[in-house]
Amino acid sequence: MHFLTFISLLLLAIVASADQNEIPEDLLTDPNIEAWVIAIRRDLHTTPELMYKETVTSAKIQTALRSLDINFKMGYGRNTKPERIEGAGGTGVIADIGTGKPPTVLLRADMDGLPIDESKRTDLEFRSTHPGRMHACGHDGHTSMLLGAARVLKSMEGNINGTVRLMFQPAEEGGAGGKRMRDEGILEMEPAVERAFGLHLWPGLPSGVIGGKSGVVLAACDRFQILIHGVGGHAAMPHLTKDPIVATAAMVQGFQTIISRGLHPLESGVVSVTKLDGGSAFNVIPSGITMWGTVRALSTETLVTLMKRVETVGGDIAKSFGCNITVTWSPDFYPPTVNDKDLWDNFASGVAAQVSETKEYVDVVPTMGAEDFGFIAERVPSAFYLLGQGSAPGTDYGLHHPMFSIDESVLIKGVELHVRSALGSLEDLWKKREEEA
Ligand SMILES: *[C@@H]1O[C@H](CO)[C@@H](O)[C@H](O)[C@H]1NC(C)=O
Ligand SMILES: *[C@@H]1O[C@H](CO)[C@@H](O)[C@H](O)[C@H]1NC(C)=O
Ligand SMILES: [Zn+2]
Ligand SMILES: [Zn+2]
Repeated sequence: MHFLTFISLLLLAIVASADQNEIPEDLLTDPNIEAWVIAIRRDLHTTPELMYKETVTSAKIQTALRSLDINFKMGYGRNTKPERIEGAGGTGVIADIGTGKPPTVLLRADMDGLPIDESKRTDLEFRSTHPGRMHACGHDGHTSMLLGAARVLKSMEGNINGTVRLMFQPAEEGGAGGKRMRDEGILEMEPAVERAFGLHLWPGLPSGVIGGKSGVVLAACDRFQILIHGVGGHAAMPHLTKDPIVATAAMVQGFQTIISRGLHPLESGVVSVTKLDGGSAFNVIPSGITMWGTVRALSTETLVTLMKRVETVGGDIAKSFGCNITVTWSPDFYPPTVNDKDLWDNFASGVAAQVSETKEYVDVVPTMGAEDFGFIAERVPSAFYLLGQGSAPGTDYGLHHPMFSIDESVLIKGVELHVRSALGSLEDLWKKREEEA
């Protein structure tokens, strides 16, 4: 080898190793990337789709990845319960950036919208063009932030020592799309995932401030449908009927005691009845009523206890009115989303503080909202961040509100959270390997 070639290769090697997994600060402040992320978010916002039907959204993600020259695999997140939830699914996308070798870190975004109408809003240029559908949970923002991270990571791919796996999942809003992708093997596929990160835009925190905590951050959750069967008849002759309306009224009241009289006072739980359907006329006692609602808790164990209580309390009350019930739960309850203690305390809390507008993270209390990132966090040490966005005009509406609106100035913070979590973790995982060797 020519001496000069040798020297320049040596120099290259030194430069390369010095830069390995180092955050490209200029990329994180690149206005072109920020503008690109915002443009993608607005485009996604115009075409919200319900769970397991995110075909247009998935195609847009694939187009963006292609434009970045990132290889990806599609067809993930198939709906395995079509008899319970409409839609074929298979809209999930996976992409690896880096060496294709361990260590591997997973970054996750969700992509589905909600059955809320935004199409008649006239004050929003990029309002939904799908009547009755809206990105009211910020998943358009989540997807665009992960694509922003993909762009940053791809542009420095030669300096990534390890693999960053991107997960774009369908059906977060109650369809357990994250569980489907997990069960399709996206964590075990080579190189196997060792850590995972996710985030949610959070109207309850000031814009650009990051929240999180060690341990349970979001609740375990399931939803029920209860059919109350009775015997209908003339409203003037109630003694000839088994009135399911009176039984239902008593059940709604009785459910309130499941928490107040059944749960340890220091435990947290929720039982909410949210929808009732039944009856046809003022002078007819119907033969049945349908009731819907949700149960939440901070542990799977408590959730299961509450679910059993809904069945026994509901059944016993119905019986006392001569009625009976059939209870149906969703195909998959969501486990709590748990931030791994070691990962949060020794790594993720530091990333949260570094990225946070205030240079400190907010140690939040858990919320009774639920997330199917919990299915990922059950398998690999994970951290879930809350990305504050509530300070701009109109951005403090809650998640799922028909006026929900993203403070787009924080999207670049989400990109940074993803990139720092991934690259910092690769460094951390190499360090751990060296310590163990
Ligand atoms: C990645 O980092 C490890 C540990 O520092 C090192 O041994 C290895 O050679 C690096 N791999 C590449 C492809 O640079
Ligand atoms: C439930 O109640 C209905 C109406 O009284 C009755 O027809 C039915 O047989 C009951 N079913 C069971 C399993 O008890
Ligand atoms: Zn939601
Ligand atoms: Zn959400």
